[in-house]
Amino acid sequence: MKLTSRARFSTICLHAGQEPDPSTGAIITPIYQTSTYVQEALGRHKGFEYARTQNPTRMALEGNVAAIEGGKAGFAFASGMAAIGAIATLLQAGDHVVVSDNTYGGTFRLFDKVLRRYQLSFTYVDTSDLAAVERAFTRQTRMLFVETPTNPVMRITDLRAAADLAHAHNIRMVVDNTFASPYVQRPIEFGADLVTHSTTKYLNGHSDSVGGVVVAVRDDDVEWLTFVQNAAGAILSPFDSWLVLRGTKTLPLRMQQHNANGMALAQFLAGHPKVRHVYYPGLPTHPQYELAKRQMRGFGGMIAFELGSLEAARRLLNAVRLYALAESLGGVESLISHPASMTHASVPPERRAAIGITDGLVRISVGIEDVDDIIADLDNALSAI
Ligand SMILES: Cc1ncc(COP(=O)(O)O)c(C=O)c1O
Repeated sequence: MKLTSRARFSTICLHAGQEPDPSTGAIITPIYQTSTYVQEALGRHKGFEYARTQNPTRMALEGNVAAIEGGKAGFAFASGMAAIGAIATLLQAGDHVVVSDNTYGGTFRLFDKVLRRYQLSFTYVDTSDLAAVERAFTRQTRMLFVETPTNPVMRITDLRAAADLAHAHNIRMVVDNTFASPYVQRPIEFGADLVTHSTTKYLNGHSDSVGGVVVAVRDDDVEWLTFVQNAAGAILSPFDSWLVLRGTKTLPLRMQQHNANGMALAQFLAGHPKVRHVYYPGLPTHPQYELAKRQMRGFGGMIAFELGSLEAARRLLNAVRLYALAESLGGVESLISHPASMTHASVPPERRAAIGITDGLVRISVGIEDVDDIIADLDNALSAI
């Protein structure tokens, strides 16, 4: 193992989980595109039997992301939703989960439309309000599922206080860290038991792979997830594992640029007369600015802003040239979207209204282009409103 226990974040991103390939010395972990492995004799093999269970490329990524998040073990899945589905298998019929109220729409859909059929129940609360979280706990509550910052209105949950509260009630805290990325925040340091990512976003970072990971800390969770990843089988492919592994090598560099561009764009929007409100935790006007400074390193590349009407949002979205009108986030290129009709279309309108997702809300995933270009394009599009 090249890494010492004192290795710093960028070094961990580059090297953790990877050794030069033992058969050739290839510096980059190869794509082990195989379904099975030859056994030397009956009952004698190299620790690899079948590729759903073990694949060296996937295992390298799992070790890499576990180290990046500061956990004990990582598990890579075919999508972010498959990762969340695997976490849900830690629950049993009758269990109750408290969930951040503006969690990703697909997570809400999985919980509400699928898992409720298996006698699991969910209560959605504003997890930035810990008194509300505690009130939502019942004797059946087994999990607190937190997203911070939330998508798209950037509410922040105090990770340390939430973990302490969950543990005082003997409840696991899960954090979906997709939106921030582990460069910006590492929930396990604050007490989270499980961290999940859609690797589709910042971890891969190049908008060319769909995947998910879970990082666990507790031995019983590691044991169960090892079992269930193989038993249910929603594994990440070798090629996607390789792509994400390549992505994490540049995570710190990319995130520094996302952070810098995000801040500059948020400040530009905040000063623009046609923008009614900007949601960005790095602005001192954000209600949880102090908390964000405490638990985040930079404020990320996600920004939402209010234009007041569907018509204004439509004009802006049709006028931008550099920003691609697309769902998803966390890639090197800037994307723009309309949460009410795109990412959050599966959320019922009354719930959308309750969490501030209006028809005039626009979301940007700020890329790493030259900041002057992304500001100029938005400035030009705002003049079309
Ligand atoms: C915060 C968050 N969690 C989970 C997911 C689901 O990930 P995937 O699309 O890779 O299944 C997404 C996707 O947008 C997301 O934004």
